[in-house]
Amino acid sequence: MRGDVLVSEILEQTMAQYDEIADLYDAGNDRIGPFRRHVEEHTFWNIAGSVDGLTVFDVACGDGAYSRALAERGAKVVAMDQSAEMIRIAQQVEKEQELGIEYLVQDATELASVGQFDLVTAIYLLHYAPSEEALESMCRGLRANVKDGGRLITLAFNPEIDPARADMTKYGFRLKLPELEDGAECSIEVLLDPPFGFSFFYWSKDVHVRALENAGFKNVVWHNSICSPEGLAEYPAGFWDGYLHNPHAVFISCEV
Ligand SMILES: C[S@@+](CC[C@H](N)C(=O)[O-])C[C@H]1O[C@@H](n2cnc3c(N)ncnc32)[C@H](O)[C@@H]1O
Repeated sequence: MRGDVLVSEILEQTMAQYDEIADLYDAGNDRIGPFRRHVEEHTFWNIAGSVDGLTVFDVACGDGAYSRALAERGAKVVAMDQSAEMIRIAQQVEKEQELGIEYLVQDATELASVGQFDLVTAIYLLHYAPSEEALESMCRGLRANVKDGGRLITLAFNPEIDPARADMTKYGFRLKLPELEDGAECSIEVLLDPPFGFSFFYWSKDVHVRALENAGFKNVVWHNSICSPEGLAEYPAGFWDGYLHNPHAVFISCEV
């Protein structure tokens, strides 16, 4: 159990790490691209379906990769991240390639309603919560922004990952996993030149579901990862199997 002071220090460190690696993360998006494009994004779009005409709030938007993809497909997007550096990069791209996305700097553990959206997305957010309270607080903040009849799609660290089969080097990253118990600190290294990494926290499936349901979400669904037909065609047979059978992150959708 961590005390409140320690939890807020951990939260500050977790938040600061993205300011430091923002440029590398932005550049890395292209290089870790095959995995993100063929599996992660393909799975996301399979769940999201058409977003044309929807209002979307993209929480923990980072450099805005999903925010732009959503806007390009016809959504009206507001996006936010706690990292001022990430938002600076996202706004710079918005200046060069205007899509009408509004970017905000905010902490998702203290998120109030900024609107009522058809869809809230939070791609790689929940595992940055350093305590169960912070996780529930994030879920309440997400819930406060979904309109009645709307939904949340989030991508979180896979609570059911098998560490013994979690060698992800061929997909462009490496995981450092301690014994997986709630609140355990884990880390990921993105294998670029230079490599960079960041840390996050393990939360079990029960803890996720409890936090989402306590926040007012229902019909919580965990989605299998799938690979695009292009990804299957482009890589040798079986290349994606290791990831698809033991993904490091898993999409969750739920409704209000
Ligand atoms: C792995 S990046 C993902 C960025 C983006 N969603 C994407 O898929 O490219 C995780 C992001 O979560 C943000 N983040 C972590 N903790 C947060 C918090 N408490 N509030 C808002 N954003 C947070 C980080 O700043 C970082 O930009």
